[in-house]
Amino acid sequence: TNVEQLYRTGYHFQPPLHWINDPNGPMHYNGLYHLFYQYNPKGAVWGNIVWAHSVSTDLINWQALEPAIYPTEPFDINGCWSGSATILPGNKPVILYTGIDPQNRQVQNYAIPANLSDPLLRKWVKPADNPIAVPEAEMNASAFRDPTTAWFSNGHWKILVGSKRKHRGMAFLYRSLDFVHWIKAKHPLHSAANTGMWECPDFYPVPVSGKQGLDTSVLGENVKHVLKVSLDLTRYEYYTIGKYSPDQDRYVPDNTSADGWAGLRYDYGNFYASKTFFDPVKNRRILWGWANESDTADDDVQKGWAGIQLIPRTVWLDTKGKQLLQWPIEELDSLRGKNVQMSNQQLKLGDRVEVNGIDASQADVEVTFSFSSLDKAEQFDPSWVDAQQLCGQKGSTVQGGLGPFGLLTLASANLEEFTPVFFRVFKGQNKYVVLMCSDASHSSLKDSTYKPSFAGFVDVDIANDKKLSLRSLIDNSVVESFGAGGKTCITSRVYPTLAAMGDTHLYAFNNGSEPIVMESLNAWSMNKPLKMNN
Ligand code: FRU
Repeated sequence: TNVEQLYRTGYHFQPPLHWINDPNGPMHYNGLYHLFYQYNPKGAVWGNIVWAHSVSTDLINWQALEPAIYPTEPFDINGCWSGSATILPGNKPVILYTGIDPQNRQVQNYAIPANLSDPLLRKWVKPADNPIAVPEAEMNASAFRDPTTAWFSNGHWKILVGSKRKHRGMAFLYRSLDFVHWIKAKHPLHSAANTGMWECPDFYPVPVSGKQGLDTSVLGENVKHVLKVSLDLTRYEYYTIGKYSPDQDRYVPDNTSADGWAGLRYDYGNFYASKTFFDPVKNRRILWGWANESDTADDDVQKGWAGIQLIPRTVWLDTKGKQLLQWPIEELDSLRGKNVQMSNQQLKLGDRVEVNGIDASQADVEVTFSFSSLDKAEQFDPSWVDAQQLCGQKGSTVQGGLGPFGLLTLASANLEEFTPVFFRVFKGQNKYVVLMCSDASHSSLKDSTYKPSFAGFVDVDIANDKKLSLRSLIDNSVVESFGAGGKTCITSRVYPTLAAMGDTHLYAFNNGSEPIVMESLNAWSMNKPLKMNN
């Protein structure tokens, strides 16, 4: 195989070739999971966008079908952009998507299965009464897209459509009685100053306690709502948790996190245009996100492909109600192969322990670190508000007090290349601050690739716990990490050269003066799914 094919993932969702972006219309219907996604059937760069379609019984093995929605009508002739699926009463799925019309306006359309008795729902039709919503005269016709899954309340179906007014990002609300005639509400459901275009909004209920997911129309006392938007300008997403009142169709975020740039993120790395759906089989809400490439467009053309879907994650509300927690779907465990375990190993300043016996280029690693004192934690400077900048300054090789400690993934034997995923604990004014980093800056000897020091803070009671856990899903050119049981998640795309050519290692390390105990480490080689769109 061509050297560039070394960067194909082993167990992440990918078609054999070409460009992919946003996950679209995920749903479970009649025993199958469906995933649609933005796809260029003609090449490895964005363009010619259609809805590619795959189905699965387990969210791990996928069968590729023909594209479900592609340009055929004036209302989508220049592209079939992102959207969502809703399953209407009577078990009838409907897709809402954005079409690009002959004037390059963004309009909202619907499509329905041509034949509900086809178990795969291969063919979709676009009824003649499309489009169902067009940009109003005063609206920006190139900033009006990505309809959500609909919810039903107060006798109406409701959806959001992402938009902006000048620099204010907004989610327009539309209502319908019959799912065909839609009327824009006077007030958007929500908006935020200086956030720019809101792409791919997602709005859904979560129970105030427990890990269960809820169907999108569920309301009630013990339910909070999550509103997530993808920010076109910075290419990251943020969400708020809040209260939705169906009567006035108002959404008021709790004041527990920023409602803007500095808001909470599902992932502090490469994760975009995400979308959730309710899985009735296991009563959970599942999050799909897309990661683009961090190499160059030329590299992508060489490889013949660009973009992956990240491992689906179960999402639920943390017990304190101030953030979501995320964890890879349990089905992923079925791909675990060869296993190694380590326990109670002390890591003193400068120690590095190799995890031997698994395929370090395609692995699932769970590790718990503990320590007995926080005395050596470095002083936190309150001006450090930007985690990514802080991680850029205090990388894994910058000696600290309590940390940096963690994993060196996709490392070459002599550390010419490595992608560290690690923690660093600081002593703040009246609380400790935990930083988590996934730092691509040393990931590759190639210098043309984008190598950010992604990072986020981790909201844990570290003084009490004296423990931090980490799970990393390593897959050739991606490292997806879950800190503290899914409190802070970070995804990096990396393109090691030596580490990709068979010289791939995995280590645990400590570069802080406080000794760390690696209480337990459990690592598995990950098998390829039997079917991945092949
Ligand atoms: C997000 C996005 C959407 C749009 C689609 C086009 O990545 O820009 O807003 O519908 O991709 O492919």
